[in-house]
Amino acid sequence: MSTVNLFKPIKIGATQLQNRVVMAPLTRTRAQKNIPSDLAVEYYKQRGSSPGTLLISEATYIHPSSGGGGFGAETVPGIWNDSAIVAGWKKVIDGVHSEGSKMYIQLWDIGRVADYEILSKNGYDLTGPSAIAQAGDEEGAKHVRALTIPEIKQKVQRYVDAAKAALEAGADGVEVHSANGYLPDQFIHWNSNHRTDEYGGSIENRARFTLEIIDAVSAAIGADRVGVRFSPWTTFQDMEVSEEKTLPQFKYLFEQLEKRGVEDASKRLSYIHVIEPRANGIFDMTPEPWQSNEPFRKIWTGNLIRAGGFNRQLAIDTAQEDDKTLIAFGRRFIANPDLVYRLEKDLPLTKWDRDTFYVPGPKGYTDYPFYKDQLEQDQELKQ
Ligand SMILES: Cc1cc2nc3c(=O)[nH]c(=O)nc-3n(C[C@H](O)[C@H](O)[C@H](O)COP(=O)(O)O)c2cc1C
Repeated sequence: MSTVNLFKPIKIGATQLQNRVVMAPLTRTRAQKNIPSDLAVEYYKQRGSSPGTLLISEATYIHPSSGGGGFGAETVPGIWNDSAIVAGWKKVIDGVHSEGSKMYIQLWDIGRVADYEILSKNGYDLTGPSAIAQAGDEEGAKHVRALTIPEIKQKVQRYVDAAKAALEAGADGVEVHSANGYLPDQFIHWNSNHRTDEYGGSIENRARFTLEIIDAVSAAIGADRVGVRFSPWTTFQDMEVSEEKTLPQFKYLFEQLEKRGVEDASKRLSYIHVIEPRANGIFDMTPEPWQSNEPFRKIWTGNLIRAGGFNRQLAIDTAQEDDKTLIAFGRRFIANPDLVYRLEKDLPLTKWDRDTFYVPGPKGYTDYPFYKDQLEQDQELKQ
């Protein structure tokens, strides 16, 4: 067995993995009518080609009212109680399982950053924690309204229903997307949440929505099949970051999740997934010296997936620090279907093409070469 932690097996919740390299969730806008396409089957199967690798799906709407936006309403996959959607995911997940790999579905509600026109056409309102749009969103500012308490409870239930649908499709688990300025993160952040009820006004109240989702989904499918993603340091989608406010807010979230696991092992989440301060949404950034995930890492004793700007050596060194760290790769996994194989063998990586991140079709999606094919082509050229 490898002495390098990154390539050693690890169990996360109910799921046994053979390595600690994770495919980060990556929106690719190639679904049709919210159903993953046959191209998605090939794309994920390719990336699961090293057995025992965890793939986290692209962010996936939990309900038709959860989406609509710059990404289009229907090119993002959904996961709700709809036979065509569940069948579409089943094909994807069966493909990943046939390679011996595992898949979590990332559960997504975009809240206030949705597109009002798309939502209203479908009979839904634009909602968020408060009637506050992100800076510069004039249309959003005209229409966004605060969710009522019954609507918040309904949202929590939709996460539960989506998680059940994910398991019905064969998923190994779900990841609650509480990062990058989407609905749960909008509740967490003081500048997008001005509520005066039990969902706003204090650290505890701002964390309530995310924790209620996690508790309800865990009760429904088992905490050992639930992960959550946080991005404490991102300013993406107008999330405010400050040393005084960010640290206690996210320490509280980590403490609460740790407390659940300590009090009752069956309530320990499969993992927490945290984005490094050097990543900001889909771009890189230079962190301030006080922006660090170390304070959170000290609180949480469970499995921790770390993402954002990892190259091979940094991933190896970081995973070597303890026996519970996994490393998620985003852009490198887009461009290298056999990323785990290349990392293990220390082979050169293909560079990603930003222009094809969000376009339809196979280009930049399923046509990145496997190293073995690249090698054969090079040899043919030499002959
Ligand atoms: C094209 C693209 C799409 C992304 N989509 C998502 C997403 O659906 N959900 C999410 O949580 N993060 C998303 N991210 C962020 C990545 O998961 C990851 O955190 C980021 O790319 C930094 O990691 P990297 O440096 O390894 O690429 C996306 C990033 C990119 C480049």
